[in-house]
Amino acid sequence: MDYRPGNLYIGAQGRALIYFMFTIPFCFGDVRLSVVEELKRGSVVGKMAQDLGVDLKTFFARSPRIEFDGSKRYFDINPQTGELVVNDRIDREEHCGQRQPCSLQFDFFLENPLELHRVVVDVQDSNDNPPSFSNEQINLEIGESAVTGTRFQIDEALDPDVGINTVQGYSLSPNAHFTLAVHTNAETGKYAELVLDKELDREKEDKISLLLAAHDGGNPPRSGTVMINIQVLDANDNIPVFTQTTYRVNVAENVPLGTAVVTVSASDADEGANGAVSYEFSHLSTKSRNLFSLDQKTGDITLKGPLDYEENPSFEMRVKAKDGSGQAASCKVIVDVTDVNDNAPVILIKSLKSPLSENAPIGSEVAIIYVQDKDTGPSGKVSCSIQHSTKFKLNASIKNHFSLVTAEYLDREVESEYNITITATDEGTPSLSSLKTIQLVVADVNDNAPVFEELFYSAYVTENNKPGFSVCSVTARDPDWRQNGTVFYSLLPSEVNGVPVSSYLSINGDTGVIHAVRPFDYEQFRSFKVQVVARDNGSPPLSSNVTVSVFITDENDNSPQILYPTPEGNSFMTEMVPKAAISGSLVSKVIAVDADSGQNAWLSYQIVKSTDPGLFTIGLHSGEIRAQRDISESDSMKQNLVISVKDNGQPSLSTTCAVYLLISDNLAEVPELKDMSYEESNSKLTSYLIIALVSVSTFFLTFIILIIAVRLCHRRKPRLLFDGAVAIPSAYLPPNYADVDGTGTLRSTYNYDAYMTTGSRTSDFKFVKSYNDNTLPSGTTLKRSPVDNSDCLNFTSLDFIENGSKFSTLVNINPGFLSIFFIIWLF
Ligand SMILES: *[C@@H]1O[C@H](CO)[C@@H](O)[C@H](O)[C@H]1NC(C)=O
Ligand SMILES: *[C@@H]1O[C@H](CO)[C@@H](O)[C@H](O)[C@H]1NC(C)=O
Ligand SMILES: *[C@@H]1O[C@H](CO)[C@@H](O)[C@H](O)[C@H]1NC(C)=O
Repeated sequence: MDYRPGNLYIGAQGRALIYFMFTIPFCFGDVRLSVVEELKRGSVVGKMAQDLGVDLKTFFARSPRIEFDGSKRYFDINPQTGELVVNDRIDREEHCGQRQPCSLQFDFFLENPLELHRVVVDVQDSNDNPPSFSNEQINLEIGESAVTGTRFQIDEALDPDVGINTVQGYSLSPNAHFTLAVHTNAETGKYAELVLDKELDREKEDKISLLLAAHDGGNPPRSGTVMINIQVLDANDNIPVFTQTTYRVNVAENVPLGTAVVTVSASDADEGANGAVSYEFSHLSTKSRNLFSLDQKTGDITLKGPLDYEENPSFEMRVKAKDGSGQAASCKVIVDVTDVNDNAPVILIKSLKSPLSENAPIGSEVAIIYVQDKDTGPSGKVSCSIQHSTKFKLNASIKNHFSLVTAEYLDREVESEYNITITATDEGTPSLSSLKTIQLVVADVNDNAPVFEELFYSAYVTENNKPGFSVCSVTARDPDWRQNGTVFYSLLPSEVNGVPVSSYLSINGDTGVIHAVRPFDYEQFRSFKVQVVARDNGSPPLSSNVTVSVFITDENDNSPQILYPTPEGNSFMTEMVPKAAISGSLVSKVIAVDADSGQNAWLSYQIVKSTDPGLFTIGLHSGEIRAQRDISESDSMKQNLVISVKDNGQPSLSTTCAVYLLISDNLAEVPELKDMSYEESNSKLTSYLIIALVSVSTFFLTFIILIIAVRLCHRRKPRLLFDGAVAIPSAYLPPNYADVDGTGTLRSTYNYDAYMTTGSRTSDFKFVKSYNDNTLPSGTTLKRSPVDNSDCLNFTSLDFIENGSKFSTLVNINPGFLSIFFIIWLF
């Protein structure tokens, strides 16, 4: 028995694998089958599924696979039946020569789980070769002097078959001189000798032809024949003798062509031509004939073709040495080819899971790799490694199988594909290695939520914007693949001032551009916030949100509003200016507000038209009207001013108002003013009252004058009651009046005395208390300064109420009351 070494050799990391075999329940059993040589392709050898006890359905699901050590695939699996069938011609003689038993071996793999079975198929001999002689004719020269009983060895017939199918016997055609003796030689098998039975007589018969047949024991038996031509001669006593019956040499498979492998040598004791030995091959297989040549004279056997251990580990040849007269002897030459590390490992990828999901757990199997190395011994011992990658590792599995698994989590967003280079190296000297690159694609998982580029967004919109105005644009990025990274934007429903935010803003779901839906009004609200959600299209989707603050900026869309003198209603309000007013004295004040803010609410006052241009000036920002020079008698009594109030916006807006001034110390002096300040609304009652008052007064005056005439007179001059004074009726403040911080519009402190209005003949008393500072800060209750009652009429106290929206009414003093008071005063 001559098993090829290394057949059951176990992979690269022997120790690891043995550990494997004992720890992991892989089946690892031998299956032994038998087949007769020369069967037709497709003939059934065995039922693998049955032999292994695997159900036929699961059998195919487990991808059965055969791996041969050599190059020829003798067997295959029938894909329908699961039977092991013959795939290539099996010639027992070619494969094993004379070796018995003759077996073919291969590995049989099943996956899921990976299983290895070693299958040994014994090849049975069939009688496919007849015995044959090396030559068609054997020429013998026999001296006529030869005595009876002399034996002549005949080249034995050879039959490459074994056992009973090899040569079993010889037979000789009937003749007068020779019989046959058959012998058995342990080395060469049965051979025949001609035995001289009856003496020869060259003169009678110098040539004898005999037919020698060799037959085997097969069923049916086969035979081969050779013609023996005998030339009757003089004697040749000695046959050549080889120095060894068998020559055995070891030759490395990589020796160069032309190398002498072995030299056979035989000697013949005879002299002359009878002792001259020549060599020749007998029975040479075609393969050997192509590889070896024999020098006829020297017996040198040299190499003329390349050896391959993996194909033919050994050769057997027979060499015949013949002397000049044809006497021959033969020997056996066995050339054992020794293995050299001439085969690099071959890396085969048996299964590959690509693309692999990026959330695959550590240790997920990526591929099963099988490494094949046809060499034996250390030269066939393979180790496998991965180059430059910490993400993957190789685990040795059964026999030259490795599983490539992940060693870390993969992240498609960092690296979307890997080229994993695997190196297989054998342990021969020098060692050979090969590379294989596995391309692994990482499949996406929706593991990233969209991320906004900014932590928060601010947008500034000028009020009175057009609907559809693009307010700002938000962007969120999602590194995932395709729909897992496709971002959609939406507004989170919320309310602004009680109104859904969607009625203010809309967002383009694809681009993230936010549009205004309607114009904004700064005076209504100045800012609001909205949440924008970015959502990807994965399943389930991931989202994130961001706050967008929208700031509305002011536009000069409100013109100044005159609070005093009040523009509507009693627009003919007239200010009294005492005749004694000197240069610089305060005459009146225009008060205006602007609902805008900042520059847009910074007001300036200007006199655009006046009766006497040199007489009055107005403070540019205070709105205070002052006498520019002392008032003289020559000045007209009626002074009209047209004042324009302008804000500082771009472009600026302005309003004008008229102020009527009356230079007089006494109401009574200006009867003609009535028409200018007469008011229809409440004048009727007032006129009646005045008529009554005048009548009563006249009556009284007359009466009093009479009394005075009667009595001594002591005269009395009426005291000037009022000074230049200004009323600032807070009731005129608009309800939405807003703080105008820092603009100076109404900041100065004004301190006015109460006065009796001269605004009309209707004798309205208007009251203004002095109050301080910060004219009307929104949200604050204005407080009156302590009332200086000294020259104040007895008014009820007043409250300013928040925002100036409400304000207790001015005390209206009935004209009747006035007259009574006047009379009392006279007294
Ligand atoms: C992997 O190899 C392929 C082909 O050789 C190449 O196109 C690709 O860019 C490589 N990928 C990486 C990540 O190196
Ligand atoms: C998106 O992610 C899911 C898992 O979250 C995955 O099944 C799907 O294949 C991914 N889509 C793409 C286009 O990669
Ligand atoms: C917005 O995002 C924050 C954290 O980023 C999260 O706590 C909150 O729930 C999100 N709001 C909505 C309505 O999705």
